[in-house]
Amino acid sequence: RICYVNGQFVSESNANISIFDRGFLFADSVYEVNLVLHKALIDSQGHLTRLAYSLNEVGIPMPMPQDELMAIQRAIIEKNQLVHGAIYLQVTRGQDADRDFLPSKTIQPNVVIIPQPKNLLENPLADLGIRVMAFPEIRWAKRNIKSTGLLGAVLAKQAAVDNGFDDAWFIEAGLVTEGSANNAFIIKGNRLITKAPNAQILNGITRRAILTMATTHGLTLEERDFSLDEAKSADEAFVTSATMLVIPVIQIDETIIGDGKPGALTKQMRQIYLDTGL
Ligand code: PDD
Repeated sequence: RICYVNGQFVSESNANISIFDRGFLFADSVYEVNLVLHKALIDSQGHLTRLAYSLNEVGIPMPMPQDELMAIQRAIIEKNQLVHGAIYLQVTRGQDADRDFLPSKTIQPNVVIIPQPKNLLENPLADLGIRVMAFPEIRWAKRNIKSTGLLGAVLAKQAAVDNGFDDAWFIEAGLVTEGSANNAFIIKGNRLITKAPNAQILNGITRRAILTMATTHGLTLEERDFSLDEAKSADEAFVTSATMLVIPVIQIDETIIGDGKPGALTKQMRQIYLDTGL
């Protein structure tokens, strides 16, 4: 793979970051994952706007104008002949001379962009659905920032897989916040229910696209908290993210959702997203 590191396109074996990089030492960095289909970036403006938001929230300067970042991502697609997959973009606060909680005043951000080829259109999970395990919300309080401090998500995902599930849903005070790396939705009748965006969740780019589509296709939107119990009694459930698009949830803990197969409205939402949202 050809990657981008601080102004240069290099092979992955030559892509190096200092051991004093603050992203490495403190997870002092933010990131984005942008979907690529048919060699095109999907919703890249949404991802860059959220990157700017995350950077601003943690006081890391935008390393270059958004259109330059967009151009570099396009160059990465070309240089790698990336047809389907994702582009990973990370901006760290930069590197200091030594490990120190206080960043130096002259520090410059490090920028890394990595292509991830993968056929995300033909995901077998779209037909199979996934089984999710409830897991206590152990992440930090500012999940609206797309920080690379992802230990909570890693532990949740590992625990889910160790217990025979595909993924985890975080539970806080009995309420579902979101998936380990995706937003959580349930459907009851013709009502589409998902948590309203606040600091407890990442406001997904795919989430917003789905909400826009759902209302124009006859679903009533309820952006509000929902409990684990309500989720277990839903007719359908699904998750969204840039890499999963829309993936049905067929089981939560030991409870089968609907008839244990991907729900009709969920399948419709995925199809509408593929047909019109991309
Ligand atoms: N994760 N919630 C969390 C905690 C996430 O990490 C993600 C995305 C989402 C969905 O956001 P979007 O629709 O903008 O991708 C929600 C990416 C894909 C990742 O970390 O790989």
